[in-house]
Amino acid sequence: MSTATTDITYNYKVVKQFAIMTVVWGIVGMALGVLIAAQLVWPAVNLDLPFTHFGRLRPLHTNAVIFGFGGSALFASSYYIVQRTCQARLVSDGLAAATFWGWQLVLVAAVITLPQGLTSTKEYAELEWPIDILITVVWVLYAVVFFGTIMKRKTPHIYVANWFLGAFIVTVAVLHIGNNLAIPVSAFKSYSIYSGVTDAMMQWWWGHNAVGFFLTAGFLGMMYYFVPKQAGRPVYSYRLSIVHFWALIATYVWAGGHHLHYSALPDWAQTAGMIMSLILLAPSWGGMINGMMTLSGAWHRLRTDPILRFLVVSLSFYGMSTFEGPMMSIKTVNALSHNTDWTIGHVHSGALGWVAMISIGAV
Ligand code: HEM
Ligand code: HEM
Repeated sequence: MSTATTDITYNYKVVKQFAIMTVVWGIVGMALGVLIAAQLVWPAVNLDLPFTHFGRLRPLHTNAVIFGFGGSALFASSYYIVQRTCQARLVSDGLAAATFWGWQLVLVAAVITLPQGLTSTKEYAELEWPIDILITVVWVLYAVVFFGTIMKRKTPHIYVANWFLGAFIVTVAVLHIGNNLAIPVSAFKSYSIYSGVTDAMMQWWWGHNAVGFFLTAGFLGMMYYFVPKQAGRPVYSYRLSIVHFWALIATYVWAGGHHLHYSALPDWAQTAGMIMSLILLAPSWGGMINGMMTLSGAWHRLRTDPILRFLVVSLSFYGMSTFEGPMMSIKTVNALSHNTDWTIGHVHSGALGWVAMISIGAV
């Protein structure tokens, strides 16, 4: 028996490799999280060594969980989803393998450099310029593999999960290059080409969109594939998925100013960041509601399906953290929350609740 679809053999090797590294970096990154959490309670746990100091291990935690764990989960699931929804094998096995080894090299470089204090000091963009260049190369190859596969698709339509994954790939490329432009002064030291408040603004344009595109848009792509698949139901509203896609990507890029409340950033820019953050509640909840409603008629399956439980818990946390975020962006609320553990709680409601739960479900 031979039909157009049964003839295709997909490249699952790279998917498996990234899936395994999702688990490995998840364990490494979260173990580091537990270690730095212990240091906050018992400072002596830093062993009085520079390499194991909180200030050096904290960025290693964030890089390992965001780019190691989250990044590997995104590579694995995007390569899986794009092949199955386009009914086409990845455009190049060689390039896909290059993204795997290149990305792991970036992460190993982070493990080597960050404990030594080699850092550009920009949060979530700490890695020094040679590693930044490597990231750029890997990312370009990733875009070629992903969009190349979409171009050779056998389906007439581009399924919505791929819209989110595509927006994640394109926007992270723009943000990474924009924020990391720097003048190198030695092999592992560079200075940002921006100065003062412009530097801060560029940094949080990146920082907030690392949340919006790395930790959200890509994972929404995952959600749009795995929730309907696991629930055995069609997406609740395909129209809503398109509307909230455009609203989400159009709004996120303007909201970064909420990270710089009461700073030297012009007051109007802080207020604009706050307003865009409040508006962001709507498209965020559009995605959450669309995922939740996809389960109508399938809720009983939660009793027996552990994967579906992970997916539903993750959507609940996505809803909660994207309600909390807009509230924290209100300047008077931020005056209370900023520099307190409230921020850390919000971060992990999104990062552990949403990102980690959906990744575990997908894996
Ligand atoms: C076992 C799980 C985890 C533990 C114990 C943990 C622990 C911590 C601790 C102690 C901090 C520093 C808090 C501070 O400076 O006061 C931190 C920061 C952070 N963690 Fe985690 N974490 C975990 C999982 C994750 C995951 C899965 C992600 C992302 C996918 C994540 C992302 C972050 C980020 C982005 C920050 C920086 C927050 C900020 O600068 O405001 N964490 N984590
Ligand atoms: C509508 C969506 C969201 C809005 C408007 C929002 C807003 C905010 C605000 C106002 C802060 C505090 C800034 C400060 O006082 O310095 C913050 C911090 C943060 N949020 Fe969100 N948030 C949203 C969703 C999320 C999600 C889903 C995640 C994770 C997946 C996340 C991750 C973070 C991180 C990592 C920080 C700490 C940044 C830092 O200072 O290092 N946020 N967010």
